[in-house]
Amino acid sequence: MIVNRKVLTLDEFTIQQLRSIPKATGELSSLLRDIGLAAKRVNVEVNKAGLVDILGDAGTINVQGEDVKKLDVYANNQFLGVLQHGISSAGMGSEELADIVVFNDEISNNSKYVVMIDPLDGSSNIDVNVSIGTIFSVYRRVTEKGTPCNHSDFLQKGTEQVAAGYIIYGSSTMMVYATRRGVNGFTLDPSIGEFTLSHPDIKCPDKGKIYSVNHGNFFKYDEKVRKYINLCQNKTKSDGGPYTQRYIGSMVADVHRNLIKGGIFMYPGTTDKPNGKLRLLYECNPFAFIVSVAGGKATNGKQRILDIQPTELHQRTPLFIGSKLMMEELETYIN
Ligand code: AHG
Ligand code: MN
Ligand code: MN
Repeated sequence: MIVNRKVLTLDEFTIQQLRSIPKATGELSSLLRDIGLAAKRVNVEVNKAGLVDILGDAGTINVQGEDVKKLDVYANNQFLGVLQHGISSAGMGSEELADIVVFNDEISNNSKYVVMIDPLDGSSNIDVNVSIGTIFSVYRRVTEKGTPCNHSDFLQKGTEQVAAGYIIYGSSTMMVYATRRGVNGFTLDPSIGEFTLSHPDIKCPDKGKIYSVNHGNFFKYDEKVRKYINLCQNKTKSDGGPYTQRYIGSMVADVHRNLIKGGIFMYPGTTDKPNGKLRLLYECNPFAFIVSVAGGKATNGKQRILDIQPTELHQRTPLFIGSKLMMEELETYIN
């Protein structure tokens, strides 16, 4: 019998990649497998969100003062569980946890990496059956192997990321991750329960026709941003338009679409929240890394997102991210 094996699974792909790096230990492959496993568990719960008593608020407020949805807590625990029991991560930071978790056992203290995570992104969309996601970022520790990790391992610039990725729980479930070598997308094949390589070597088109921003905040944006949004609204065929506005309210879904189709996503600062809403370490940096590897750009309006020196685990930053030429045009307005 001839077996048709044209499609690689996530594990097969990461192991193949590993073979081409002479000094690799396999810890990153193992970490990605752990994240894939937790994602599959979260996916099962997301899919039956309307059926069981998992919908709605958990009745607590998280460290950022936002309502915690039950699935946020569930997802956080799944990712924490796999990383704590795996061999690759010395600790984890999460949107849902006030402080980092230092695993501090013999295996974890000897692990190479630490992970930052937004376990469920777009959680206000859970109740209405709209795409949500998970975002993660992987750093090589700066503290010595064999010792417990600490804050300095997590407060590294985005340029230091070893890998970053996201899972989108959408019309299909996908995991997309980037290393410096490229960005690859894997779609969950529900018949075998495996992520399979469906989008090899993703490149973000240099330009597109989509702009994504919350128009409800328009009058709270500064004048330069409003001028740029006006430009987007007035694009004509002769200058690359017309543009179309798309905003789901789940960053994972919005940026995933723009990564594939070309486009620009903005969450600017507002008069009441000058740093915007999105968190540097587990929302902006991972996407800035992925989009940059794919050929796009990300800034806070003043500097590259990846160059920002973090000072706090949960710090926020304005974000402008997307196709290279669209970002360059934006920069002529906001710089
Ligand atoms: P989270 O669910 O992790 O708190 O993140 C939600 C974020 C992001 O996904 C989205 O782009 C943004 O909030 C939407 O905010 P607005 O509703 O203010 O536009
Ligand atoms: Mn989020
Ligand atoms: Mn979240």
